[in-house]
Amino acid sequence: MSRLVIVANRVPNPRDRGATAGGLAVALKDALARREAMWFGWSGHTAEATATTPTLATRGRLTYATLDLGREDYRRYYQGFANASLWPTLHYRLGLSQFSREDYAGYRTVNAAFAVALAPLLRPDDMVWAHDFHVIPLGAELRRQGVRHRLGFFLHVPFPPHALFCALPRGEELIADLAAYDVIGVQTEDDATHLRAGLVAAGHAEAAARVAAFPIGIEAESFTRAAEKAAAGAETARFRQSLVGRTLVMGVDRLDYTKGLPHRFAGYAKLLARFKSHHQQVTYLQVAPVSRGDVAQYRSLRRELDEWAGRINGQYADPDWMPLRYMTRAVARNTLAGFMRLARVGLVTPLRDGMNLVAKEYVAAQNPEDPGVLVLSRFAGAAPQLDGALLLNPLDPDEIAEALDAALTMPLEERVARWRSMEGPVREAGAKAWCRDFLSTLEGSPAAIAA
Ligand code: G6P
Repeated sequence: MSRLVIVANRVPNPRDRGATAGGLAVALKDALARREAMWFGWSGHTAEATATTPTLATRGRLTYATLDLGREDYRRYYQGFANASLWPTLHYRLGLSQFSREDYAGYRTVNAAFAVALAPLLRPDDMVWAHDFHVIPLGAELRRQGVRHRLGFFLHVPFPPHALFCALPRGEELIADLAAYDVIGVQTEDDATHLRAGLVAAGHAEAAARVAAFPIGIEAESFTRAAEKAAAGAETARFRQSLVGRTLVMGVDRLDYTKGLPHRFAGYAKLLARFKSHHQQVTYLQVAPVSRGDVAQYRSLRRELDEWAGRINGQYADPDWMPLRYMTRAVARNTLAGFMRLARVGLVTPLRDGMNLVAKEYVAAQNPEDPGVLVLSRFAGAAPQLDGALLLNPLDPDEIAEALDAALTMPLEERVARWRSMEGPVREAGAKAWCRDFLSTLEGSPAAIAA
């Protein structure tokens, strides 16, 4: 079996295990366990200048190869172009996108540095799988280094309609770079349609045929086991006790403006204003770990949410009831799994999301005898697979309030029926199937594309 080389901006720390693993590391666990592999990307450290040779660490059959980035390169590549230009554009938020040629140049410099450092490490029959919007030009840069290997790319975030994407200066150049990959994976059929049209418009019609949707999934069995175990443990017991019999609504998101958190808080405030029967009866726990705090828009979002949380509790709380519990610290995955099992409602309302694995984790965490209700944005990539959820438009706070009321009052029989219709797809279209499908497509792709 050929060696698999994973490229991503974030590389897991070889010392970290299990609970602290990032989403991608969890999704790739099976693929990495089966074969020899290398994980290549940013070291997580900055230095005076970007390194030219990677630092290597080996754990069994897995090698970690990471590069320190120069401070200025990091700022322009990561905070600048990746997070302040590409991220908002790919999530349909043109108004938030800021472009500068210097940032774009930094993004290209880092991708070129990755390619120059990676090319000499490749063995003849390696397969390279690059992940996400940070490394779009990597394939083209590797080809420039003479690399003829099979190169795959997967975009974890949405790809917007062409008219929107090409408003990003240099957008067409990035689309042209994608044509260097043998397989170009996206999350949903909509994303695939948009990207194909973009490739055709950029004069790369032949590459459009190499675009396909591979919806990412979770390791459902292991998440279910974690939820069962945690739900029977002391931490969940303490949390349950603190709820004093009230029904739990729960949300878990990175603190990101794509997640629709202000709209969600507005929706919850509407619930409390319009459906007074829930007063004293419901507790909403929102876990929103701070993310990308060095980007201005994330800092202002945090202030906005602090205000919302204060306003909701200020207006509706009683001395013995806090309607909203809001925290920006990270909570361990297993602990969250236990809390999710306890939650009657999983509230997942992104304004736009590549997939959203929290929605799938919520389904996997449920007790089949007494499952909770998933309230899900129509604009999450997971929506087409999870039609047993209450699907809504997250931009309308009244719709959120009505869906919450429906979920909180839903009879057991309907909850079970809805949950059953989602549990199969979540289990079957899991992380293993995602890796297998992508890698077998890459392995079977005609011949590596010449530069
Ligand atoms: C999203 C992106 C990932 C990214 C993650 C965390 O899920 O698709 O590529 O790693 O957010 O963001 P961060 O900027 O902290 O890596």
